[in-house]
Amino acid sequence: MDIRNLHRTDLCNPEFRTQFFQLLQAPVLDEELALFCFEKRKGSVMTFVGIGDVGTEDQDMPIATVSVVLERKFLRGGMAYGHIEDVNVSPNHRHEGLGTEIMTYAMQFTKRYCGRVVLECKPHLESFYQTHGFITHSIAMRQQNEKPNKPNFSREIKDSSTDDKETDPSTDNPSTVDASTERELALNRLALKAKTVMPTLIQQYCLEKTEAEKELTRREFLTRRRQ
Ligand SMILES: CC(C)(COP(=O)(O)OP(=O)(O)OC[C@H]1O[C@@H](n2cnc3c(N)ncnc32)[C@H](O)[C@@H]1OP(=O)(O)O)[C@@H](O)C(=O)NCCC(=O)NCCS
Repeated sequence: MDIRNLHRTDLCNPEFRTQFFQLLQAPVLDEELALFCFEKRKGSVMTFVGIGDVGTEDQDMPIATVSVVLERKFLRGGMAYGHIEDVNVSPNHRHEGLGTEIMTYAMQFTKRYCGRVVLECKPHLESFYQTHGFITHSIAMRQQNEKPNKPNFSREIKDSSTDDKETDPSTDNPSTVDASTERELALNRLALKAKTVMPTLIQQYCLEKTEAEKELTRREFLTRRRQ
């Protein structure tokens, strides 16, 4: 299994997107909403995916995932706390060590950037997380809200694309801009608008990636663009 961060382009691939949301045990979002959420999360959530090996039926598809939510504290000079979320391995691959593998990868990330790492889990997984150095501390509490106000995503996306037409000179002449480019611009504009909690840590992480990793990402991007 190859582990890397989730890319925006992954969510443009219908098969990848479907498998990713199934992995999360969440409803499958359409491309537009998935990209919108991706942009909103950018800067404060690092999502890692484990990709199936070449030559297997899961080749290039996500089979494991974990997210680290970065929270900048006011304490200790603005230290970051990491929250481990959405640890999932495909039901076809459980007990093969992949959960351990992707957690180890996420913990390497948190070791570099977070002063403290916390998570919430079911009692039967206590020992799984203990092997990654977690100790049981405090109790977890939660409150479920039945009918929270849903953010009006489609309205926000629409508003943002209208804003683009007014402010972005490249969209002044719609006849020269095809629909997908226009939507790309709208989504890019959203990325700028999204209130990010901690862009610098994520940027730092991306900058610290090795040249080989960057080349791999670039090649993968170009391959997907060609498909
Ligand atoms: C929990 C989960 C991520 C573990 O992934 P995995 O790839 O199966 O884990 P590993 O193969 O690395 O397991 C290593 C060890 O952890 C322990 N472990 C893993 N899953 C466990 C479970 N469901 N119950 C109890 N112990 C478990 C076992 O000791 C296991 O060793 P074993 O396979 O020899 O029994 C996976 O079962 C999963 O996706 N579950 C559904 C989603 C979920 O509950 N996520 C956690 C949210 S907090």
